[in-house]
Amino acid sequence: MKKQLTDFIIKTSEMLTPSCGMLTLMPVDGSPLPEIKPGQFVEVAVNSVMLRRPISICDVDYEANELRLLIRNAGKGTSEMLGLPEGSKLNILLPLGNGFTFSDDVVQPGSRMLLVGGGVGTAPLLYLGRILRRKGAEVTFLTGAKTSAELLLVDEMERIAPVAVTTDDGSEGEKGFVVDSTVWQKDYDRVYCCGPAPMMKAVAALARRKEVECEVSLENMMACGLGACLCCVEKTVKGNVCVCSEGPVFNINELTW
Ligand SMILES: Cc1cc2nc3c(=O)[nH]c(=O)nc-3n(C[C@H](O)[C@H](O)[C@H](O)COP(=O)(O)OP(=O)(O)OC[C@H]3O[C@@H](n4cnc5c(N)ncnc54)[C@H](O)[C@@H]3O)c2cc1C
Ligand code: FES
Repeated sequence: MKKQLTDFIIKTSEMLTPSCGMLTLMPVDGSPLPEIKPGQFVEVAVNSVMLRRPISICDVDYEANELRLLIRNAGKGTSEMLGLPEGSKLNILLPLGNGFTFSDDVVQPGSRMLLVGGGVGTAPLLYLGRILRRKGAEVTFLTGAKTSAELLLVDEMERIAPVAVTTDDGSEGEKGFVVDSTVWQKDYDRVYCCGPAPMMKAVAALARRKEVECEVSLENMMACGLGACLCCVEKTVKGNVCVCSEGPVFNINELTW
């Protein structure tokens, strides 16, 4: 898939929690968005840091020619992105990476899909859920956070499919981690997961025990985003691979976890 460098204008910027915000972006010149698969990401350039920062594509609206990025303030680069006023420009390289599997041989009407997100890792699951529902799959979202105040996108996910919630302190949904949720009592055809590495490892272990196909989206440190600098390498059963170009989505059977 051809990658492009495009100037986007920030149409809206809204803080959803004290540390996470959503940017809605449109190409400055009105050119149509490229084809974007769920689970792909962008590399955003900002002035305060030398290297572009990788951010998952949270949602795509081809009719409005907009895409949305859910950003957690993790340091200088993301703080600058969240602090830019509406109307500012951002230079973005996209679309990057492979994305989640949603081909017709895997997703059929009635396929039971569990989409598990932790924190800002919920971002790529929104667009994925929308596409899976359009293909007739039976989607369940499962999202986890430390407290109810840190939960993200629950209302938006609820407009697509049922949402199960866990919080570490029990302030909303079931108390515990996502792997403790009672949604796991049901059977699924496939699990898609994105979140902090310990959470994804726990989900992968559970999916293995339940013998269900599982894909995870890795967030290794990245620089070029194009497979050139080798700073995002992950050890897999096929040897070392660049997460930016071969991933970020991997079937757990490919990983050495
Ligand atoms: C494929 C992918 C998708 C991502 N999607 C999202 C998303 O949708 N929303 C979101 O908020 N964050 C996402 N991240 C994480 C985000 O890229 C980092 O939080 C961001 O790069 C931090 O940059 P900073 O300048 O704000 O912080 P820094 O001050 O540079 O660092 C703060 C923390 O971020 C980590 N970090 C720094 N640079 C990178 C980098 N280039 N790649 C990965 N981690 C880094 C550091 O280890 C450190 O722990 C994603 C990362 C990857 C690899
Ligand atoms: S980020 Fe440069 S090779 Fe992956």
